[in-house]
Amino acid sequence: MSTVQEKIQDLWSKQEKVKLGGGAKRIEKQHASGKYTARERINKFFDPDTFVELDQFVAHRCVNFGMDKKELPGEGVVTGYGTVNGRLVYAFAQDFTVEGGSLGEMHAAKICKVLDLALKMGAPVIGINDSGGARIQEAVDALSGYGKIFFKNTLASGVIPQISVIMGPCAGGAVYSPALTDFIYMVKNTSQMFITGPAVIKSVTAEEVTAEQLGGAMTHNSTSGVAHFAAENEDDCIEQIRYLLSFLPSNNLEEPPVVETSDDPNRMEDELNTLLPDNPNMPYDMKDVIKSIVDNGEFYEVCEHYARNIITCFARFDGKSVGIIANQPAVMAGCLDVNASDKSSRFIRFCDAFNIPLVNLVDVPGFLPGTDQEFGGIIRHGAKMLYAYCEATVPKITVITRKAYGGSYLAMCSQDLGADQVLAWPTAEIAVMGPAGAANIIFRKDPDVAEKTAKYVEEFATPYKAAERGFVDIVIEPKETRPRIITALNMLASKREARPAKKHGNIPL
Ligand code: HXC
Repeated sequence: MSTVQEKIQDLWSKQEKVKLGGGAKRIEKQHASGKYTARERINKFFDPDTFVELDQFVAHRCVNFGMDKKELPGEGVVTGYGTVNGRLVYAFAQDFTVEGGSLGEMHAAKICKVLDLALKMGAPVIGINDSGGARIQEAVDALSGYGKIFFKNTLASGVIPQISVIMGPCAGGAVYSPALTDFIYMVKNTSQMFITGPAVIKSVTAEEVTAEQLGGAMTHNSTSGVAHFAAENEDDCIEQIRYLLSFLPSNNLEEPPVVETSDDPNRMEDELNTLLPDNPNMPYDMKDVIKSIVDNGEFYEVCEHYARNIITCFARFDGKSVGIIANQPAVMAGCLDVNASDKSSRFIRFCDAFNIPLVNLVDVPGFLPGTDQEFGGIIRHGAKMLYAYCEATVPKITVITRKAYGGSYLAMCSQDLGADQVLAWPTAEIAVMGPAGAANIIFRKDPDVAEKTAKYVEEFATPYKAAERGFVDIVIEPKETRPRIITALNMLASKREARPAKKHGNIPL
């Protein structure tokens, strides 16, 4: 019979074995391909010495194809909890050194346990994906594992923040767990996501494409819009996730954390009074406006490389998190299109689910015209934006800097879509359509068309017609924007808005 000491030593050796994952050779291969191991990632992500690993000794029970003789340390996934800046966070990290991080029944059960715990405790969950997909030997058991994860991702949606990190291959149906979560991070050159890989594509459609072109970080950050953040390398990626968490509450019943700031809430920004060009058809960079009004000029863009005609970002005003949605006149004149509508609607819904007030900066000439947009379903996609804003009950503040025309004025959260405060710069042009175009329609048969158009522009390309009806609450000097937003946010802090009871709405997807 073993002594107590021998039993303790046996535990140590078992733990050591699990920690080695697939062994030194495979770890070396992982490092050689520019990737950390699952445990290294976890240790870098959490505050030092706070990670508690669960289910180290979970084992598969597959007997197909000689699997009964195969031990898979940790079942190919490291799971557990720890703290990030002192706050509880759950995580799982697939271990590519163990059977390619492939997902079998028990591997999935480990992930599901963490999702259950995170949901019960109301804490964010981070999933680090690096896997060859369904463990082929486990067949339908592996598929069932994915199904269970999808189900739990969906239950947790809107209750706790779920963040997916792609740090290796992520293919086939495996991509759908990340796609069901709130944010996807990808690392340049070492991560890929696709439903069918280059070989299958070649055999079916004869297209030739590399894995990186097909599903690399920049493909999904700039072309498909599947991913929300691109990182230069894994260290950068981990830093970015920790930073993102600093803006978010742990769950839907909490307020976002408040951070101490040295930035004066009453700070006026004289430069904003001269930022806009005199010619309303000249562009300017809306990021200059954002930088000059938020705490310390600091903001974190979501989907920075996708639909750049609209900016979505987290920032703080007087230490409190907000989500900013801003038209970007420097890209496509800030028009709304299919992709901008998709990008902003999802962001609005995330902020609303997690009690993050919305600040909308408006300079929008309209929805982008063209068959491309109409055939692409701009009606359906644009409607998402209307729906998302109407549905959102968090404080909503709209600042109109320049153009706010027609349907796009409404779509950027006008008062009628529920903006609690609408502020307008004196340069705002709030009108049913571009004033020159409007005058051209109603006066086109008039001999004094030029003179009448000029008069129309003078009268209607202003904030004052809307202010006369109360659609604008306050016309402000541009330099006052920061203090005015902060005052409005403070006023709205106790906002409560009840909506009719229903199972759920039917957002035009
Ligand atoms: C079992 C797998 C595996 C898998 C990899 N491995 N993927 N084992 N099931 N899905 C094993 C390999 O046999 C190998 O074992 C080890 O993991 C490392 O893999 P390598 O191929 O040596 O690594 P690399 O050259 O880096 O290539 C990585 C890879 C490739 C591109 C991911 O392994 C690959 O193509 N795997 C199959 C991917 C795939 O088709 N998956 C789809 C499954 S179906 P040894 O012992 O040699 O180290 C699916 C449907 C999900 O996912 C649907 C959900 C709804």
